[in-house]
Amino acid sequence: MKTILNVVGASLLMLTACSTPKSADEAFIRENIENAVAQHTIQTDIIEQSGKILNPRTIKDGKIVYVPLEDWCSGFFPGNMWLTYELTGDKKWLPLAEKYTEDLDSVKYLKWHHDVGFMIGCSYLNGYRFAEKEEYKDVIVEAAKSLSTRFRPGAGVIQSWDADKGWQGTRGWMCPVIIDNMMNLELLFEATNLTGDSTFYNIAVKHADTTLKHQFRDDNSSYHVIDYNPQTGEVRHKHTAQGYAHESAWARGQAWGLYGYTVCYRYTKDKKYLDMAQNIYNFIFNNKNLPEDLVPYWDYDAPNIPNEPRDVSSAACTASALYELNGYLPNNGYKKVADEIMVNLSSPAYRAEVGTNGNFILMHSVGSIPHNAEIDVPLNYADYYFLEALMRKRNIENNNCFSTNCLTQK
Ligand code: GLY
Repeated sequence: MKTILNVVGASLLMLTACSTPKSADEAFIRENIENAVAQHTIQTDIIEQSGKILNPRTIKDGKIVYVPLEDWCSGFFPGNMWLTYELTGDKKWLPLAEKYTEDLDSVKYLKWHHDVGFMIGCSYLNGYRFAEKEEYKDVIVEAAKSLSTRFRPGAGVIQSWDADKGWQGTRGWMCPVIIDNMMNLELLFEATNLTGDSTFYNIAVKHADTTLKHQFRDDNSSYHVIDYNPQTGEVRHKHTAQGYAHESAWARGQAWGLYGYTVCYRYTKDKKYLDMAQNIYNFIFNNKNLPEDLVPYWDYDAPNIPNEPRDVSSAACTASALYELNGYLPNNGYKKVADEIMVNLSSPAYRAEVGTNGNFILMHSVGSIPHNAEIDVPLNYADYYFLEALMRKRNIENNNCFSTNCLTQK
């Protein structure tokens, strides 16, 4: 009995000593970094042993799926290397981050889809920020030029997808713009910062304004696809591609919008973008179909809720966005919500055991149910936004710093 009491007493003492918020946060962050390092060590050992540069995106039939550099997801794994380098400070990750990033060099000329912002932003822009790779500037600016070729002045938007080929060519669209495109604007804002050429900034602002006008419903949820007449700007269709229905709220689209408008506020300080981000937040977090653990179903209007797949990538992107939004609006509880999402994503319900899950960190994301692709799988971008959120949380906890510089900037 005495022994038990001693143990209980000692545990209580330890609990008191260790349960200050600071040390609990530190332990949480440290444990997640260790987990990411363990998974990434296995993943990069496989790549390095292959003698090739491989770019893991997800798993299919138990095997890791590697993608070519034109794939919209090709920047995330290099980005995960930069984030791991930044989180650990371990030089081991630097040459890997450099090698996987520099493999994407020719993406700077890619003009046939809009995702160059994701691809070059997560890879080269992070290298520029975290390792002061000055030589990456030219790639970032060239990629912004390529993205700018997709700007349609008559409609005031950057065209997301070409409409004359692939499955997009079957939809009758002229100039499809998807809410995801908000994520590509950071590259343009940064290109203006790097060059002093305001053309990129102006395109980003015009795109954000046109999207704000046409892509949102009265309840502040967004359509996935708006099809414009590129000459007149007339809205031809309000559609979905990856959501349940044209009038439904595809979960990742809401996360892209929240993150995208928060970034627009970062560079412009225009309050209407901050308001939009808050409105999207209110839509998500007041939604009756958002589960208690804050990891949404793949579509807020999916027909068989609660028997529908969750989308962890949406939750991870939302958490990262909320840490930044909290920097601009510190009294609205956004950090608390982001912390809650992070704790849930780090639980065994969503975080894989080391050596499983194709060596990705998080389980249970959805690519596109209408395309019957990537349902309930790991996705490299879920890991990317999770690690970015972890970095932002660490910077906030360590420095008690909410300014933009502590979150993302060089
Ligand atoms: N940007 C494509 C997707 O979110 O699935």
